Amino acid sequence: MRLDSVHFSMLVIGVSFACYSPSLNSLQDQAYKSTVVIEGKVHSVPANVSTEPYSVNVKVLDVWPLNSGGLEREQLVTVGEFGSEAPCTTVEKDHRYIFFMDPTDEPLVFKASYAPLDTNGKNLKKDVGRILCEDCAAPKIKQLKNQSVVEGNKLLLKCEASGKPPPEYKWYRDGSEFKKSKEIKIKTSKRNSRILINRARLEDSGNYTCVAENMHGRDNSTSTVNVQSSE
Ligand SMILES: *[C@@H]1O[C@H](CO)[C@@H](O)[C@H](O)[C@H]1NC(C)=O
Ligand SMILES: *[C@@H]1O[C@H](CO)[C@@H](O)[C@H](O)[C@H]1NC(C)=O
Ligand SMILES: *[C@@H]1O[C@H](CO)[C@@H](O)[C@H](O)[C@H]1NC(C)=O
Ligand SMILES: *[C@@H]1O[C@H](CO)[C@@H](O)[C@H](O)[C@H]1NC(C)=O
Repeated sequence: MRLDSVHFSMLVIGVSFACYSPSLNSLQDQAYKSTVVIEGKVHSVPANVSTEPYSVNVKVLDVWPLNSGGLEREQLVTVGEFGSEAPCTTVEKDHRYIFFMDPTDEPLVFKASYAPLDTNGKNLKKDVGRILCEDCAAPKIKQLKNQSVVEGNKLLLKCEASGKPPPEYKWYRDGSEFKKSKEIKIKTSKRNSRILINRARLEDSGNYTCVAENMHGRDNSTSTVNVQSSE
């Protein structure tokens, strides 16, 4: 990835290294080496960007606990010194970027430590969240067991997942989302989700998949349920 970028930047004159989306490792380096990392939307840009270096006003959309710099969502900050050193770091009004910044002497005024990265339609934000998170973890489900019950008996399926923040749960049966109804109870807490069918019917047989998801990832596990005729 890196080698490719170097190679490419030698061919395209004036395009700096910082123009390329970094690989996960260099994203990690940039995030760790910057005092403050935010997702922000460009609020206003100077009328004349040929006056270098220039700065832009940015509305904070999201911060990460490790590198928030005390900033909160909705705050307006000035991020500056774009221009001369990294010619491709032009930012556009109303676009969202990840800004890597260091503080200056002035409150709410920051110096860009790396080129901002456009977050449009990319997993970038997720990647940054994964990096700048102290003890967060993707969900991991305790494997479901297959079950065999005789019709008319109780059927209980329990899905338990670790993960921080606690995951949200969804159930699928044979591929379609499975919702509660009069006969089917689904109870979900922070620690687990349970399906309870008091009187299992033959047609309750199938593959029940539990999906647990949080901002750091998802996991799933499937139980094959076989409801047997009582005759
Ligand atoms: C922008 O700034 C440059 C350098 O100061 C100046 O030469 C140019 O005339 C300005 N352009 C506009 C549209 O104001
Ligand atoms: C559950 O049943 C399915 C389908 O019969 C099978 O592929 C799977 O290995 C079984 N899982 C366990 C944990 O026994
Ligand atoms: C459930 O999964 C097993 C193993 O993947 C498969 O053989 C079986 O056809 C599935 N049952 C249904 C009802 O989709
Ligand atoms: C479960 O996980 C597998 C492997 O990651 C994935 O291919 C599949 O689509 C997932 N199923 C659901 C219902 O999310």
